[in-house]
Amino acid sequence: MKTALSINPSEFETDCLAVLVLDHSEKDSSRNGRSDAKPVVTVETSDAAVRDAAASVLAGSEVTAKMFETTLVHAPAKLKAKRLLLVGGGKAKTFSSADLRRVAGTAARTLKSKGIRSFAFAAPSDLMPAELAVRSIVEGLYIGDFDSDTYKSDRKDTSLQGVTVLSAGDPAKLAAAMDEGRILGESQNFTRDLVNEPSNRMTPTILAERARKMAEEVGLKCEIMGPDKIKELKMGAFWGVAQGSEEPPALIVLRYEPADAPAGSVLGLVGKGVTFDTGGISIKPADGMEKMKYDMAGGATMLGAMRAIALLKPKRKVIGIVCATENMPSGTAQKPGDIQIAMSGKSIEIINTDAEGRLVLADGLHYARTLGCTELIDAATLTGAVVVALGQINAGIFANDDALYERFSKAVKSAGEKMWRLPLDEDYREIIRSNIADIVNSGGRYGGAINAAMFLKEFVADTPWIHLDIAGTAWMDDGKPWLAKGPTGVALRSIVEFARGV
Ligand code: BES
Ligand code: MN
Ligand code: ZN
Repeated sequence: MKTALSINPSEFETDCLAVLVLDHSEKDSSRNGRSDAKPVVTVETSDAAVRDAAASVLAGSEVTAKMFETTLVHAPAKLKAKRLLLVGGGKAKTFSSADLRRVAGTAARTLKSKGIRSFAFAAPSDLMPAELAVRSIVEGLYIGDFDSDTYKSDRKDTSLQGVTVLSAGDPAKLAAAMDEGRILGESQNFTRDLVNEPSNRMTPTILAERARKMAEEVGLKCEIMGPDKIKELKMGAFWGVAQGSEEPPALIVLRYEPADAPAGSVLGLVGKGVTFDTGGISIKPADGMEKMKYDMAGGATMLGAMRAIALLKPKRKVIGIVCATENMPSGTAQKPGDIQIAMSGKSIEIINTDAEGRLVLADGLHYARTLGCTELIDAATLTGAVVVALGQINAGIFANDDALYERFSKAVKSAGEKMWRLPLDEDYREIIRSNIADIVNSGGRYGGAINAAMFLKEFVADTPWIHLDIAGTAWMDDGKPWLAKGPTGVALRSIVEFARGV
């Protein structure tokens, strides 16, 4: 997709001009379960000709401006555009830049489904700073444009060709905002492309190759280590998972080290890269097992985040680490009862070989500390329990440091993502106690997401750390008006915002 900037919506020649409509009515529209307040709908642009062109359709009852409602007007009077698309954004009072992102995504998906592959989007005039509006719109357009590539032999390319964002403001600042939006949107889609691939086309080796190619393109240092190096580093927890597979594991390390970065502060981003999770000897049921191709989403998120960071160039050092492996049952697989010694020296009793994500992350997090990371974030499709707790709406956040949590949650807010903090009290520690080793790798079903996080906490020591359990949010079973079903690329924008010091 190409994006461009321009001005004057009514003068702009395009197949379709998309604009935001909002409801300015004061009253709550539902009382006693009945809707009795009429919406007061306005077109959010300062261009009077566009408002005039929408006047007749707004005079009827068809347009209510509720979130994601779309109305297409053909041959709008006195506009150079062939069509006018009104996209609802809900109540004006609560409208945010996160909503604008989704509205832009809705416009993209609505129009591409009608075969309209280039259009213009008029930025709202005074709801937020123009740069914030442009950046949110561009992000929403890229995120909305994504559809999982399929292997259908008759598949057609329906992707958007070009979108022009129409906004008043300082052209240089708007162009910079557009670049930011494009970098974030493209990086999120880079992650989604990786997650979408099935495991026979996204082995640890292939994931590492994709990381290497991306690193070359954006100017990151890249180091890829195989089985020998993983064993040499004494990563017994990671290797315990990897030993059961014919596919060699890969330890991917990306470094972003700008010359102007302050010394003494290094952010470490550690991702779970299980390219397929059968459960190992504690094998999963067949029903739905195919979904376990997305068990490398945390790793793919970190690769996409490193891509965005390399292009946005914040003034701080960042190291990205992905522990990539399959989790397979085989004659060489680890077995329940086995003891593994992690890189940190801690001994682990393997109770359940399906609790493999925490094993690969244990060594990834410890390794990040040995590389000098002073702050850690990990992302992982770690537990089914977090899906039970938070559904497919909020990712789970865990933190061992309240100040870091506060900073990170600001970044989450500014990225417009949804995450919910879960506890990590010491009281949970006894659940992962082992009789014959330092800890067990599974604390059973109750509080499963917390038990997994408690396990990880053992390997970060006193380093401030955030753990994101994205098992419920990395893959959507149903599409949204602004988002295709399939891989979401969740957490990437929050992590990048955090790295930029928002
Ligand atoms: N990859 C799974 C978690 C998962 C579940 C991701 C559903 C996405 C959707 C993880 O490796 C796993 O199997 N976790 C087990 C842990 C248990 C054995 C302690 C789980 O959640 O059941
Ligand atoms: Mn598992
Ligand atoms: Zn897993």
